[in-house]
Amino acid sequence: MTKIAPSILSADFAKLGQEIQDVEKGGAEYIHVDVMDGHFVPNITIGPLIVEAIRPVTDLPLDVHLMIENPDAYIQTFADAGASIISVHQEASVHLHRTIQLIKQAGVKAGVVINPATPAELIQEVLPDVDLVLVMTVNPGFGGQSFIHHTVNKIKKIAKWREEKGLSFEIEVDGGVNTKTAKLCTEAGADVLVAGSAVFNQEDRRKAIQNILEATN
Ligand code: DX5
Ligand code: ZN
Repeated sequence: MTKIAPSILSADFAKLGQEIQDVEKGGAEYIHVDVMDGHFVPNITIGPLIVEAIRPVTDLPLDVHLMIENPDAYIQTFADAGASIISVHQEASVHLHRTIQLIKQAGVKAGVVINPATPAELIQEVLPDVDLVLVMTVNPGFGGQSFIHHTVNKIKKIAKWREEKGLSFEIEVDGGVNTKTAKLCTEAGADVLVAGSAVFNQEDRRKAIQNILEATN
């Protein structure tokens, strides 16, 4: 079953708790939290303080996507704040294996993320160690961008490796996912669809989530 992970980047931050409860009631399975530092990506968003504040408002896993330099220095902080899954970019981690072990030692699920221009081969060695692979389908930094189509081949490649190696990590996609692009992702092997603007720009969030799920059939 495909899961929808609404990205709160497109939510109304003046009523964030309500927005999260709204998508939870609407059928979301993860809450996707985009952490940006203004260095790794050209935008500054959410820090551990917000993660801590939203932890009590939902029972859903908090899927924390770190778009920051030196992620090792912040893993424990985000774990303590209540993250359920922490994903780090291959491009931001010099010792990716070590970073993944740090996440696991902090007691949370570990994810690895690759940008559109990064070959899947660069994460091949760590696939047995991760719970989640996040394939960026836009360049990270902002919500509401257009889906980059060549990333679909990468999703397929990673799904094929998962099957060949008998691994069980989830494949998540992030960026430009809507009723037109969702099926391309799920057909290629994605299990979790992050959707920011496609969910939060609609008044009826349940309907928005249902429409994306129905578009994958
Ligand atoms: C992009 C973020 C995404 C973004 C998705 O840097 O990682 O999670 O919020 O937004 P949409 O679904 O609007 O492309
Ligand atoms: Zn994200």
